[in-house]
Amino acid sequence: MFTRDVLALSQADLVVRELGKRRYVSPLAHELDGRRDTVHWVGESDRVLLDDTRAMAVNRGIDVGQLPAFEPAGPRKTLYFDPSTTRVGIVTCGGLCPGLNNVVRGLVLELNDRYGIHDVVGFQGGYRGLTVDGAKTTTVLTRSVVHDIQNRGGTVLGTSRGAQDPDEMVDTLVERGITVLFVIGGDGSLRGAQRIAEAATARGYDLAVVGVPKTIDNDIPFIDRSFGFETAFTRAAESIRAASTEARSTPNGVGLVKLMGRHSGFIACYATLAQHDVDFVVIPEVPFRFEGHGGLLDALRRRVDANGHAVVVVAESAGQDLLQTAGTDASGNARLADIGTLTRDRVVNHFARENVELSLRYVDPGYAIRSVAANGYDAEYCLRLAQAAVHAALAGRTAMVVGMWHGRFVHIPIPLATSGRNQVDPDGDLWMAVLEATGQPARFS
Ligand code: F6P
Repeated sequence: MFTRDVLALSQADLVVRELGKRRYVSPLAHELDGRRDTVHWVGESDRVLLDDTRAMAVNRGIDVGQLPAFEPAGPRKTLYFDPSTTRVGIVTCGGLCPGLNNVVRGLVLELNDRYGIHDVVGFQGGYRGLTVDGAKTTTVLTRSVVHDIQNRGGTVLGTSRGAQDPDEMVDTLVERGITVLFVIGGDGSLRGAQRIAEAATARGYDLAVVGVPKTIDNDIPFIDRSFGFETAFTRAAESIRAASTEARSTPNGVGLVKLMGRHSGFIACYATLAQHDVDFVVIPEVPFRFEGHGGLLDALRRRVDANGHAVVVVAESAGQDLLQTAGTDASGNARLADIGTLTRDRVVNHFARENVELSLRYVDPGYAIRSVAANGYDAEYCLRLAQAAVHAALAGRTAMVVGMWHGRFVHIPIPLATSGRNQVDPDGDLWMAVLEATGQPARFS
């Protein structure tokens, strides 16, 4: 998310929908009195500022008290739903991401232990699980079902891509008396969650739909980092290490690594910084060319001449303008053409043309970076997101996601969280850090 996008927003964009007046005293109410307003705990009437620099705030030219700000996440003393009669549904949608099981487990145990809610159903296979046919097979999510799932990659609920009819899904929820639905999914799934919330409202059904944004690509706006991203780039850095080891061990060795990231180069950038052993990175946000003086192949050849080896990282969505793309998937996402193998072939041809020896090792970890269990950072983050999601839903918030913004857990309306895409800013500090770490030119042109 770029500064200009943030500056275009006003308070109206940040308001989270509430189902109505809160009528029930929370089982947590007695504990909340003892808590202080500190940097770790935000008072309910407090707000977390959207802007994070003085210049941005000053630029708005309005009173400090009027600055756009998010509602803080956390437990409320009063609830919209009566925990003793509340039924809950959980669904995981879209591609795999480390931490899915941690979020499911966190939701179930928070509901059980803090709110005394034991009626929790897992819908299987993404939104398909909420259709008439899909809902014939559900999983009752008890403490024993979730007790060790955090140690496994994937999702115990299964997942799928693609939309389903929101009215049919609301039918399923109404039939089962479910009034709280947690959706763990990426931007397409969150748009689906918004449609479910709207379909429920249209028929006057009180339903809280709360999302936990999921993607290894880290491209959801207004969220510092999406869960699973850190695990994924840490795993990706291991592939860079392998490619680097191979490259250093062979004459004129080139290690080429292709990494996921459908529209954003965050995984490529962070893995590069984590391993700090990369010579060139190409990402979708910075167009590049292979040929000619100053092109990638020329720069690579010169680096190999100088050092005897080199490592190149290619984000899967880089250089799509150099290839023919091939339609869309079930979620409507463009199917990417293979820039990894194209780069491999171009490097091999270039060195052959120049009559220079080359030992190229191509590493594509593919799905291996996202099918693993969450690391410690993501495990902790997932649990806190799950806790925040439960507090929000029970308090009657809907059509929103929980996320961390400037280090604070906040409520974000789904339309805002799906309004755009986080991308690496070619003029921002992340890309500058990558350029410093690799020593590559700012542009291959
Ligand atoms: O969006 C997450 C992601 O892992 C991307 O990095 C990748 O392009 C895509 O999903 C692959 O999805 P699929 O599971 O449909 O192959």
